Amino acid sequence: MEERIVSAANLPQEEETEKSLRPRSLREFVGQKQLKENLEVFIKAARQRKEALDHVLLYGPPGLGKTTLAQIIAKEMDVRLYPTSGPALERAGDMAAVLTNLEPDDVLFVDEIHRLPRVVEEILYPALEDFYLDIVIGKGPGARSVRIDLPPFTLIGATTRAGLVSLPLRDRFGIILRVDYYPVEDLHQIVIRAAKLLEMQLVNEGAFEIARRARGTPRIATRLLRRVRDFAEVDGAQVVNLDLVRDALRRLEVDECGLDKVDRILLETVIYKFQGGPVGLDTLAAAAREESGTIEDVYEPYLLQMGYLQRTPRGRVATPLAYGHLGIPFPEEGGKDPGQKALFVGDDEE
Ligand SMILES: Nc1ncnc2c1ncn2[C@@H]1O[C@H](COP(=O)(O)OP(=O)(O)OP(=O)(O)O)[C@@H](O)[C@H]1O
Ligand SMILES: [Mg+2]
Repeated sequence: MEERIVSAANLPQEEETEKSLRPRSLREFVGQKQLKENLEVFIKAARQRKEALDHVLLYGPPGLGKTTLAQIIAKEMDVRLYPTSGPALERAGDMAAVLTNLEPDDVLFVDEIHRLPRVVEEILYPALEDFYLDIVIGKGPGARSVRIDLPPFTLIGATTRAGLVSLPLRDRFGIILRVDYYPVEDLHQIVIRAAKLLEMQLVNEGAFEIARRARGTPRIATRLLRRVRDFAEVDGAQVVNLDLVRDALRRLEVDECGLDKVDRILLETVIYKFQGGPVGLDTLAAAAREESGTIEDVYEPYLLQMGYLQRTPRGRVATPLAYGHLGIPFPEEGGKDPGQKALFVGDDEE
């Protein structure tokens, strides 16, 4: 798959820049007001009691600040953070090794926690509740179980797929926080802050324009900003004004609403090839020459969230908003090609 500038996924080559742009304290962390206020209270209370913070589950779409928040929590608690991830812990022994290395009050950060194998998850349960491990040594009749006490610690789990976290694991988190898409005003602040850190002279309207097209996602906002900076530097511009931002985004093929070429192809396919839908996912995928899994996981969520596309029991439907955005007149009721309509009715009766 071609790399998309408007993808919310994290890219290995961006790790260093992301690190340098990451807010380091709750005060620097823009937006998510309610979440921040609550977190502040929990951190303060734990610190006053001189206890480890309760286990925290952070969930929400990619690029909204879950890893950033985990690091901020450790920093505000003034403890070490030990980072790992679900896929990295393959066997029960991997988890046991990590847990027995923790020092009192440390934060264990498990990214993609929904991908923890079941056996690993199970040895985590007593560790989370009562801070001990039950380890089985040996095999067969000679096997025995040894109990190892652990220091109190805080598990911070992060996931983009809260629904895939097993119920017993979810129940062991005292604090569950949902990170949401950011309104444009917050993204505006994030772009202004990042531009300062990148020592860019970006006009206010330019920052707002980037925020507007960033799909509610700080990671996309800072990526667009860096690409705009590339264009500005090559053009030899000292000050990045609105025209320059618009021109750069046009060259990057990111439109007014943050849609890219693939988004538009998908919507146009539904509209032109399927009379606006409903069209089944597999049929749409074949017509647009994409994999249906990729459409479902990567392309479709933002289109659904923004209301350009609707999911119905009979398939995907392009909304009037999509027609409007692409400048295609929305057909009047009954204006559809009757032959096509009959075809869809026939499909349903199968
Ligand atoms: N509230 C915020 N204020 C300022 N910058 C932010 C904020 N949230 C995220 N960012 C920026 O976005 C980048 C991505 O955030 P982060 O890596 O924490 O996302 P994530 O939710 O962990 O994503 P993933 O699900 O892919 O792991 C950070 O490096 C940071 O620069
Ligand atoms: Mg992350």
